[in-house]
Amino acid sequence: MKITRLGHACVLLEGSKTVIIDPFITDNPAASVALDGIPKLDLILVTHDHYDHIGDAKVLASRDEAEVIAIHEIATSEDFKKLTATAMNIGGTYSSKGVQISMTPAVHSANSVGFVVYMDGIRVYHSGDTALFSDMKLIPELFGDLDLAMLPIGGHFTMDSFAAEKAVELLKTQRVIPIHYNTWPPIQADPQEFADSVETANVEVLEPGESLEL
Ligand code: NI
Ligand code: MN
Repeated sequence: MKITRLGHACVLLEGSKTVIIDPFITDNPAASVALDGIPKLDLILVTHDHYDHIGDAKVLASRDEAEVIAIHEIATSEDFKKLTATAMNIGGTYSSKGVQISMTPAVHSANSVGFVVYMDGIRVYHSGDTALFSDMKLIPELFGDLDLAMLPIGGHFTMDSFAAEKAVELLKTQRVIPIHYNTWPPIQADPQEFADSVETANVEVLEPGESLEL
């Protein structure tokens, strides 16, 4: 699986299927691509309907006839009525096109969630916008060992680097990609400092547009 950070909290997973999480491209000051630089998508996962996450979900779903997967209130909203959208809820697991998706809690506003995505034998977790919560320790117990976690470090709207360090320990993940930082002034963070302070996992600092192969 190839994981590309497209900027902010938006990541592209390319394996047997092409999956995007939180496709915020238009008006994203940190986006590494334009919309037409996004490959044809099979699945679009949306963690919540704040604009910096739901972003271009509707446009891309319509462009690629891709399936949107989101919490009930988003999937059944007017925006996605005429498109293919599957509603899930927290604690559930759903498989589509050979990709297994579990929806996890997030501590934020706007009915936020995270996702565990299992594709081609690799398991990755995208926390969405969240504060640290101790039940993160149950995520690998319930859904399996994590090869990778994508966690916010920017603070202000989510957990910061200090809390994300604790999240890494709870999640027992092999690798971490920090997300949701340096897009705007309120969420400034130093990913290298975070990388230096995490001792239990490899921190992969990806600039927007950079990829990691698992
Ligand atoms: Ni948010
Ligand atoms: Mn956000």
